[in-house]
Amino acid sequence: MRYVWLDCDPGHDDATAILLALHIPNITLLGVSTVHGNTSADDTMKNAARCLHAFAAPNSIKVYPGATQPLLRPARFDPEIHGVGGLGGVEGLPSVELEEVRARLPSDPATARAVEGMATAIRGVWKDGTGSKVVLVSSGPMTNIALFSCVHPELLEAVEEIVFMGGGVGLGNRSSAAEFNILCDPEAAQIVLNIPLKKTMIPLNVTHTAIVTRKWHSKVLRPGSAVTDPAQPLPAPQSALRRMLSTLLSFFADAYKAVFGFVDGPPIHDALTIAYVARSELFAGRRLHVDVELTGAHTVGETVVDLWDYLKADDTWGRTGKNCIVTESLNVDGFFELFLDAIARCDKV
Ligand code: BDR
Ligand code: CA
Repeated sequence: MRYVWLDCDPGHDDATAILLALHIPNITLLGVSTVHGNTSADDTMKNAARCLHAFAAPNSIKVYPGATQPLLRPARFDPEIHGVGGLGGVEGLPSVELEEVRARLPSDPATARAVEGMATAIRGVWKDGTGSKVVLVSSGPMTNIALFSCVHPELLEAVEEIVFMGGGVGLGNRSSAAEFNILCDPEAAQIVLNIPLKKTMIPLNVTHTAIVTRKWHSKVLRPGSAVTDPAQPLPAPQSALRRMLSTLLSFFADAYKAVFGFVDGPPIHDALTIAYVARSELFAGRRLHVDVELTGAHTVGETVVDLWDYLKADDTWGRTGKNCIVTESLNVDGFFELFLDAIARCDKV
């Protein structure tokens, strides 16, 4: 069993990460914190609560609102990709006014912030070393994780690993050089890369292979179907959950087609973080040194990956070492089977 804390900015693909974290049997989700990113911190907090309710999370799982802005830079959001409010076009999600959704949020957000939520959950599982470690998963800008490492360095020994979706190896998506999550808060990302703990990076090079093609979309709607022909209609949804997911995927597909020219479907980047925690054997990767460009005229937010060990990095996970496993490929069919299995489990709750 792996204990997971998810820090996210829902976000269409963050929503898929939440679903996986709740419905993969070998993962126990301890809590969810939210951060500025795809939309405002206020929106991401509410969206996370709406997703938890929609995906039948146990009532004990709450949302802890986190940083409203990056460490040094102004916040930037991404309505072009995620629409108004961060989950544009998604039909069938519960409203934040619903009592069960409100119950996921702190009555006073000042009292239950992300950093303290993480600390309390980690202490609860670690039990002063007699219990288990926790995996910190990040699917948004890493401001909260960076702050956690600065405020609670004593708890880093209780963190097994940090897994993050972000960066690219020679590939950007929100500038010529930078991926969105890293670009939003490059300083926070560098702080996290310097933490002397195992880290795993899921870059764009890998997430761009997790494309929800028409075949996978049809299986989301109805298990067993496999519509590939664009002239053939997708099957009718087998449940309200599947209908909702279909609207999510369709909106995301349209955005990726319009902005990046992805014609086969959208990449559900963030779901790969949880898939990695549950089934790391679906991925291949290498341990390398990674830094973030913080000052370049054209390249701020780029993840600079030392592919050839030019730096002769040492064996530590911190600032002088091979600080990161950089994933390089994915068993795509294996990943989508896991995704479909999680949907089927969620459907049964
Ligand atoms: C990342 O940025 C956001 O659009 C997604 O939620 C994902 O975390 C991809 O670059
Ligand atoms: Ca995200």
